[in-house]
Amino acid sequence: MAETYTVLIIGGGGREHALGWAFARDPRIQKIWFAPGNAGTALIGSNLPLPATDLAGIIRWAKTEKPGLVVVGPEVPLCAGLADRLREAGLRVLGPGAQGAQLEGSKSFCKDLLVSQKIPTARAGSFKDVTEAIRFSGSLPCRQVVKADGLAAGKGVVIAETHEEAAKAIREMMADRVFGDAGARVLIEEFLDGEELSVHAVTDGRNLVILPSAQDHKRVGEGDTGLNTGGMGAYAPAPKATPELLREVRDKILLPTLAGLAARGIDYRGILYAGLMLTREGPKVLEFNCRFGDPETEVILPLIETPLWDLLGAAADGDLAKISLQTRTGAALTVVLAAPGYPAQPVLGQKIQMGKTGADSAIFHAGTKMAAGKIMVAGGRVLAATGWGDDLQTARERAYAAAKTVSFEGMHFRRDIGYRALGKVVR
Ligand code: AMP
Ligand code: GLY
Repeated sequence: MAETYTVLIIGGGGREHALGWAFARDPRIQKIWFAPGNAGTALIGSNLPLPATDLAGIIRWAKTEKPGLVVVGPEVPLCAGLADRLREAGLRVLGPGAQGAQLEGSKSFCKDLLVSQKIPTARAGSFKDVTEAIRFSGSLPCRQVVKADGLAAGKGVVIAETHEEAAKAIREMMADRVFGDAGARVLIEEFLDGEELSVHAVTDGRNLVILPSAQDHKRVGEGDTGLNTGGMGAYAPAPKATPELLREVRDKILLPTLAGLAARGIDYRGILYAGLMLTREGPKVLEFNCRFGDPETEVILPLIETPLWDLLGAAADGDLAKISLQTRTGAALTVVLAAPGYPAQPVLGQKIQMGKTGADSAIFHAGTKMAAGKIMVAGGRVLAATGWGDDLQTARERAYAAAKTVSFEGMHFRRDIGYRALGKVVR
């Protein structure tokens, strides 16, 4: 009999539904569990009543059921050491341990590593004292960036236009603790101008496989206006990411980062996601994430033909050198369908009507749940309507056509996803 495999995916957003969807295309995958999953993941696997932050519960379950591979989606359990503890229990895991996850969990750790490896990044200072922070802020040009050191669900970054604004952000983070303990330390850095690019690499700590590059749209409003969100849409590949640029990113950014991790005794097996600014002087690191991006995953995975079991399993085993990535030509684009009031105060609980999507498109569930046989809104980012095809324009048309097949009260989405590559659309 042909071999069959089982997978446990930690998390319950669009990223995890897309991961499950990509695994499920592989006939060798016999079973996928999600902890906790959402209404969409329940259709392709089994949802476990275990939140991604219930480390003890997940470890207990995994020791008993012994899934063939565990993929950890979100940063919070990675920073809390879930991957370490699963590995200690003998499981195969895609995701760095707590030390490696500091690359995302501590902006000062990340900056120290970047500086020590001479990797291009914004000039910055890291402070635990308000007065010293404000003094350093005064030495930078007035347009600058104030960042809470720790995890703040993507919210701990303030772009200040004046020294007064910067000082206010410093006081709010450090003295008023608006982001809790994440603001006990702040990083203050120079503002970098340019276009942003997300480069994801799968790594076993020594070898890298670079995945199709992506661009996301962080602001809630069209034309990149309004509040920051977790991401309102994305597309891949980014036309700006030429093979030459990606070589530069690999040689000057990703490989030196792995060397810096190794020098610190860290065995990093997982996703290295570089948030880059393409400046006039070349690509510079804004941040690292220790996991797949959301919604970037929803556009990267439809372009990957190498089975995830092989790709992510090889990284978990420390054996990535044997993989040569197969991708499909063309592009993918995703549009996030958000709850009313998102990101400030999302209104939840509405019933979602779902239709049937066409070929080469998919609706990935993010903030949804099943209740009394109905699919309900359960989070700010509700669904990710995704399309792919031979070019970005086709992918965009398919994504927006897929978006039209669903509705719920107050649903909103950006109509200009992909505008930097394709120009604005008004629908
Ligand atoms: P981060 O969580 O560090 O990636 O910051 C979130 C967002 O803030 C980034 O995606 C950028 O849009 C912006 N940002 C962060 N650092 C800088 C910087 N040094 N210059 C300009 N924009 C930045
Ligand atoms: N889309 C940005 C992130 O996942 O951090």
